[in-house]
Amino acid sequence: MDERLAVVSGGGTGIGAAVARTLVADGCSVLVLGRRAEVLAATAERIGSETGRPEAVRAVSVDLTDPEQIGRVVEAVDGRPVDVLVNNAGGFHSAQDDTLAGIAANWRATLDTNVLTAVLLTAALRPALRRPGGRVILISSIAAQRGGGDAYSAAKAALHGWAYSLAAELGPEQITVNVVSPGYVAETEFFVGRMTPEGHAKRVAATLVGRAGTPDDIAESVRYLASPAASFVTAQILGVNGGSVLGR
Ligand SMILES: NC(=O)c1ccc[n+]([C@@H]2O[C@H](COP(=O)([O-])OP(=O)(O)OC[C@H]3O[C@@H](n4cnc5c(N)ncnc54)[C@H](OP(=O)(O)O)[C@@H]3O)[C@@H](O)[C@H]2O)c1
Repeated sequence: MDERLAVVSGGGTGIGAAVARTLVADGCSVLVLGRRAEVLAATAERIGSETGRPEAVRAVSVDLTDPEQIGRVVEAVDGRPVDVLVNNAGGFHSAQDDTLAGIAANWRATLDTNVLTAVLLTAALRPALRRPGGRVILISSIAAQRGGGDAYSAAKAALHGWAYSLAAELGPEQITVNVVSPGYVAETEFFVGRMTPEGHAKRVAATLVGRAGTPDDIAESVRYLASPAASFVTAQILGVNGGSVLGR
């Protein structure tokens, strides 16, 4: 079989970079996507040198909220089958004010960043997904399951409903669609400028295992769902949260 090809959005930092590194270490060729070219280039170089496979990781600079830019990803895929698509790009937008205009701007930005990025990238790559055997993985959040994030919680929850629909559409072609829902993960850019020692301690205390998650904790769950071994797992939400939210 050809080397497996994976596409990881938000692969330049945090969880996405850990996912990309894990998949490269497993023998995949990986495209990492994000808006900041210099961040992507540095991450691609680091992953290449840490795994000894510099040829296996390529960066594509793209704003995934912009339909016109997504063509760059299709060009980079260049007609190869995509084995693994990890829709990880996302982020939190703080509300600027509580006017209706401010609320509208905040919800639009949040939905664009967390939902539209995944929807557009998946639509663009859908024809290229490997049949049979393709894997689509969405990175949601514990905020979808327990609230607390206002528009962010709602946007991440939207991914869950969409994943069920997509899994039903792609299941007959032996493509799986699953959601990984991380709990609190330190060491990423997600909380930059928003975290306090008290906020950190509160989130750690909410886990059953008494620690923050790491990007590698999430990457390991993606590794499993992306693997051929997970072909009977689809339309599932996998909480990786140290027990902060109990499974149902
Ligand atoms: N850290 C946590 O505690 C936590 C918990 C639950 C869920 N999550 C979710 O996990 C995912 C990864 O977050 P993280 O913690 O690793 O934070 P992060 O380091 O901020 O990663 C987010 C990534 O998304 C990319 N991105 C954002 N908007 C984009 C756009 N329009 N087009 C292309 N790329 C875009 C960013 O790159 P550029 O800025 O260069 O575009 C960045 O690499 C996110 O979906 C986040 O919501 C995180």
